[in-house]
Amino acid sequence: MRKITGYAWHTGKLQKPVRLLVVSDLHDGKYADILPLLSDIDALLLPGDLVIRYGPFYKRGIAFLREAAKTVPTFLGVGNHETRLKNFDGFVRQVEEAGARILFNTYERLGELVIGCWYRPRNYGHEDMLPAFEAEAGCRVLMSHRPEDYAPYLAGRDIDLVLSGHAHGGQVRLFNRGLFAPGQGLFPQYTKGVTGRMIISAGAGDHIPAPRINNSREILRIDLD
Ligand SMILES: [Fe+2]
Repeated sequence: MRKITGYAWHTGKLQKPVRLLVVSDLHDGKYADILPLLSDIDALLLPGDLVIRYGPFYKRGIAFLREAAKTVPTFLGVGNHETRLKNFDGFVRQVEEAGARILFNTYERLGELVIGCWYRPRNYGHEDMLPAFEAEAGCRVLMSHRPEDYAPYLAGRDIDLVLSGHAHGGQVRLFNRGLFAPGQGLFPQYTKGVTGRMIISAGAGDHIPAPRINNSREILRIDLD
């Protein structure tokens, strides 16, 4: 079962409110229950880990993008599983053929929104997109797969909303805290919910069969105004 968590996010920058659906960490999982949610949104954002890099597995992920892109503008930001795919260029082609946009230290405009994906540019020899992104007019929404990157790299920047995933809610949740997250280890600080201007999703899927406890798979529906 996936839980849909709703947020109202005020920026004061939009003439017309916008509704986003955010599906992070689908990990090539089933998506039939997500399709009906696409009917009353303005864009679908996937902040990383659509795929499972072992294998690699992304047939279902691409099929989901194809279905979604028929209905709404669909933006995939990369996560660690995408960047570590052996044939990344082939994957990019499939995303584009499916009618979705893939972002990797890049951004695109959608009406009053500017939608970007920041992912550790120095590690990939990319120019840091943030100065140009901050200079764009409108409401700046940034996908950043790893929530642990928020404090060191993004918190001080001029961004209206950061969308993150990766931590899978901390896998096991006790007293509203996660137990473990990749990149953060035991008792991680950033696993779910709001921190500053970032919303972290507990993720819509899993790539290993480890159980989730007190920690539903999660999709976000965000009303931006
Ligand atoms: Fe993930």
